[in-house]
Order: sequence, then structure tokens, then C-alpha cells
Amino acid sequence: MARESWNTRVGFILAAVGSAVGLGNIWRFPWMTAENGGSAFLLVYLLIIVAVGVPGLLGEFVIGRRANRNPVGALASLSGSKRWGYVGLITVVTALSLLSFYSVVGGWIIRYFLGSFTGAYFAQPGAYFEAINFGWEAAGFHVLFLAITGTIVYAGVRRGIEIATKVMMPSIVVLLVGLAAWAVTQPGAGAGLDFYLAFEMAPLRENFFDILLAAAGQALFTLSVGAGTMITYASYIGEDRSLAADGVAIGVTNTFVGVLAGLVVFPLLFAQGIEVGAGGPGALFVSIAGAFSALPGGVILSVGFFGVVTLAALSSSISMLEIPVSYLVDEFGFSRAKATGGLVLVYLVTGTYVALTPGVFDFVAGTLVDLLLTGGLLAFLLFVGWVLGQTAIEEFEMGAGAISRSISHPWLYAVGVVLPLFLLFTLLTGILGVFEVSIDTTWTLVATAILGLVAFVGLRHPESAI
Ligand code: PHE
Repeated sequence: MARESWNTRVGFILAAVGSAVGLGNIWRFPWMTAENGGSAFLLVYLLIIVAVGVPGLLGEFVIGRRANRNPVGALASLSGSKRWGYVGLITVVTALSLLSFYSVVGGWIIRYFLGSFTGAYFAQPGAYFEAINFGWEAAGFHVLFLAITGTIVYAGVRRGIEIATKVMMPSIVVLLVGLAAWAVTQPGAGAGLDFYLAFEMAPLRENFFDILLAAAGQALFTLSVGAGTMITYASYIGEDRSLAADGVAIGVTNTFVGVLAGLVVFPLLFAQGIEVGAGGPGALFVSIAGAFSALPGGVILSVGFFGVVTLAALSSSISMLEIPVSYLVDEFGFSRAKATGGLVLVYLVTGTYVALTPGVFDFVAGTLVDLLLTGGLLAFLLFVGWVLGQTAIEEFEMGAGAISRSISHPWLYAVGVVLPLFLLFTLLTGILGVFEVSIDTTWTLVATAILGLVAFVGLRHPESAI
């Protein structure tokens, strides 16, 4: 069977933007920013997007387009070694963790969408969120969200994804701009803007390692990088596209939506006098509910808002499900229907568990995902730099314009050497943080250097360009 490819030239970009723009921008970003010191987090996060996220995205594109395979098969076939296939299996673990919590949040979104028609959550935003976030009803809505995701993935890449994104992107920008314009004029909103935008050094000095891991994890999460999604999506594109141009366009659009969401959430939280760190995963829901109850036409606005966010969530969740589906289809010859059906059953169980257990939700949706994405991207970039080498440059330059071609060598050096060191350092300090080991920067740097050296020497391909 011929592999599917995107319908139109813009199809791929739309789908990749659809994957990137999602609950990561609108829900997870405000949560993480609130928990990690506000503006200090924002700054580190933006730096990582530019310096690590976008070059990393291009790394995944190169692997995917070269291999025309799912992440596991791509690493194995391009390297000609089973060992890399095992490394690629991390993407299956990541995909399992991602959708298990994402579809719980997707369930919340659907719940809020339905509740918008009656204004169910308008009067007591905080209490409403507390009442619905975990438990059997939450599990029920998770199943609903999962079923919709499964249906779209089952229908195949072309029909579902491209269309959903075309509707979603413009509407979401218009709605967020409108809401932000209103939010910043509310009494008390100024303190929210300060928290979000006035660069404050203090949190960085106190919690540098926590902020580093959270910001790196969030930057990768929001770009859908480190999970293998972009490898999978790029496996469906032709050689005539400039990967660099597409990558930058995706990075810019996606970051814009995230920063906008913050401009809605933080002024509103402060205007309502809600303690910013206390919101946790509810920050978005609680802040925005207050806005809709106060605004004229709040019902229509909230229906529109949660409707669009549902689309944004779905265009991301399908890209998460597409990773293990393409793995089963490519590597084991499963039919798309069987692979999708089987995986939906798995998520049914894992997601339900997450929906019933708030502690597990927090860990999986926060730290675990940060670590998995950081580790996943580390593996991909080492692969690009040390296994593909010259081939990566060739692939990078295919379909590229003059500007993109001129950065191909510096790019390879960055993804092969500089970024892996950064990711390794972040990963190590992150893991130590999970075990609550107090961290000594010098020793972590030394350990990073030693581990990095061992990994580079061990993985180096004889023909690598570095
Ligand atoms: N980027 C998506 C979002 O912001 C989430 C995602 C992460 C999707 C990793 C696929 C892979 O919601």
C-alpha cells in the first residue's frame, strides 16, 4: 500500500501547526508559568524555544522526511542498527504518557464547552473546577475525547487533520486577541501583567533547576518536539518543501498563541484576586470562567472559545495517537483500524487511571512529560548529528532556499554537539530533582561532560560529519 501524503502543499504545515497549537499553549503554559515564577519562566522558555525547540524541530523533520517511517522504524532503518530502534521505543512510552493525561484535559474542555451553553460554571468558577476535575465523570469525558480522537485517526491523515486546523487557527487567534484586549483593561490586571512580563530575576536565583526543566519541557511540549510526532508528520511530506522555512513558521505561530494565552489568563487571575500559584492545572479554567460571566454575550463567547479549544486539542491529540499507530502499521503490518482500536483500548485504561488519581495526573502531565520529551529530543539530535551527519545536511538542504542552505552546517553543529549537552544537563538535573537530591551545579556539569563524551564516542558513526 502506498503511504499517504498530505493533500496540499499547505497541508503539512497546517497539520504540524495543528499538532503544535493545542492545550500546551492555552492550558499547560499558564499553569507552568504560574508555578515557576511568572516572567522569569517566560524568558527562559522563550530562549529555549528559539535556541533548542526550533532547531530540534528541524532535526525531527530531517529524520522523518529521510526515512518515511514512524520514529522507531526511522531510527532503525536509517542507522541500519536495531539498537537505535530500541532507543526509538522511548517515543512509544512518551506517546502513551502524553495522551493518557491529555485526553483527561480534553475531557475537561468538552465538559466546559457543554457547560458554556447554560453558563454552568459562571457563578463559581473555582468550586466548579474542583468538582469536575477528577473522578468517574472526568473519566467519562476523557473517554469521549479519546473516542473522537480515535475516529479522526482511523479516518486517516488527510481528511481529518488538515480541515480541522484550517478552521481552528484563525478563530483561535481572533478569540484570544479579543479576550486579551478586554482582560488587560480590567481593574487589577496590571499586577497580572507585571507577574507575567516584568522580568524578575529572583525566582531564577532561587529555583534555577526547577525552572530550567519546566521551561525546557514546556518549550518542547508546545512545539510537539521530543515525542516523535514531527518525525511521523514529516514522513508524509515531499522533498520540495523547505524544512527550515516551515519550521520557523510553525515556531513563530505557535509561540504567538501561547504568549497570547498568557495575556488572557494572568490579568484575569489577578483581577479576580486569585492567588496565582494556587490555581495549578485549573488556572486557565478558573480565570477564563470569570471573564465569561462578566462579559456581555458571555454564553456565546464561551461556547465559541471552548469550541475552538476543543478543535485545537483534537488536532494535537490526533498527532499523539498517530505516533504509536504509525509504529504498529509500519512495523507490524497492522491495519490502521486495528492499530487505532487497540491503542484506544489501552488509553481507555491508562487515561481512566489518571482521571481518578490527581497526584498521578500532576506528575505525568508535569515532570514526567518534561523528562521524556527532553530525553527523546536528546536521542533524536544525537542521531542527527552522529549517525546521519552529512546525510542530515543533504536532507536539510533539499527544497531549501539560499538562506536556509547557508545555515545547514552551523545547524548540524548545534544539534549534534551544543544542544545535546544542554539537554543532557537539563535531564540530569531534572532527574536529580525528582529524587529530591540537592544539586551541586559543578558536579552536574562534570557528570554531563563525562556522560556526553561516553555517549558521543559510543554512538559515533564512522561516516559522521562531525
Ligand atoms: N504541542 C501540543 C500542544 O501544545 C502537545 C503535543 C506534544 C502534541 C507532543 C504532540 C506531541 O498541545
